[in-house]
Amino acid sequence: MGTLDGRVAIITGAGRGIGREHALFFANEGAKVVVNDLGGANDGSGADISPAQQVVDEIREAGGEAVVNGDNVADWQGAQRLVNSAIEAFGDLDILVNNAGILRDRVLVNMTEEEWDAVIAVHLKGHFAPSRWAAAYWREQHKAGVTKARNIVHTSSTSGLFANPGQANYGAAKTGIATFSQIIAKELIRYNVKSNTIAPGARTRLTLATPGLENIMKPVEGSFDQWDPANISPLVAYLSTADCAFTGETFLVQGGNVTMIESWARGAGVDSDAKWAVTDLAAALAPLARKS
Ligand SMILES: NC(=O)c1ccc[n+]([C@@H]2O[C@H](COP(=O)([O-])OP(=O)(O)OC[C@H]3O[C@@H](n4cnc5c(N)ncnc54)[C@H](O)[C@@H]3O)[C@@H](O)[C@H]2O)c1
Repeated sequence: MGTLDGRVAIITGAGRGIGREHALFFANEGAKVVVNDLGGANDGSGADISPAQQVVDEIREAGGEAVVNGDNVADWQGAQRLVNSAIEAFGDLDILVNNAGILRDRVLVNMTEEEWDAVIAVHLKGHFAPSRWAAAYWREQHKAGVTKARNIVHTSSTSGLFANPGQANYGAAKTGIATFSQIIAKELIRYNVKSNTIAPGARTRLTLATPGLENIMKPVEGSFDQWDPANISPLVAYLSTADCAFTGETFLVQGGNVTMIESWARGAGVDSDAKWAVTDLAAALAPLARKS
């Protein structure tokens, strides 16, 4: 018995890295998997379906069920085709794992419009569009009396949640994804859909492109490989189970560590019975300023 027996899952960006591990793990847990990947370079340029096809071949050789999909998750019609491909191949859709991603790191003063737009498109729209088509299908199913549990898992990053300099495009998208997940968790619970987010840490071509990380992430012979991307998948599988206890949450996951992230919260403040004068407001707020 697998924890995802018979469930149908779409995993975006599953040709490489963390998504590839999710696809193999999900299939091993009994899920039928749509392996989506555009197959471009780190910066999103180009397309190549062969990495995704290899994952499908590997799953089938191990006795599992999988189909390939090469659509761009940031394309509105492509995202609809992706959702339809699960229904056409396996007759249903239970799980959507939004994982596809690219990087175009640059400090703000040098960032081009294209670098901004490409990263926002793949991450933010690439989470929105598949979620939107999946949710529309699930609402239709729910109205027709099929009320079983469905799950979405999104992929954020500490680069956004903890505001990493040099990644304004990526970080803004990744923080946006965490809030997007919280909002749709509230909207979709009426259709028995749960929505959670992970912020992973793992050795993939994306992280290996960052100077210095290769040494930090090197496996140490004879000890637990903390940075193996396969370590991320058990949490994503759990968040994809029908009786998962969470919705609207964000989890850091790296190696054997899983930590819940607290959302934005109200902090210290000041009050006035009338409209503030700027100088009075400055004096009232001064004790609250953070020392840097
Ligand atoms: N590796 C980490 O430590 C880390 C940290 C934080 C967040 N993440 C996030 O995890 C996710 C997976 O990243 P990874 O590290 O495995 O990188 P990766 O480059 O190995 O995998 C990303 C995959 O997404 C695919 N992809 C890119 N754009 C696509 C598109 N428009 N449509 C469909 N597929 C597309 C790529 O072809 C690639 O196979 C990303 O969202 C990334 O931002 C990773």
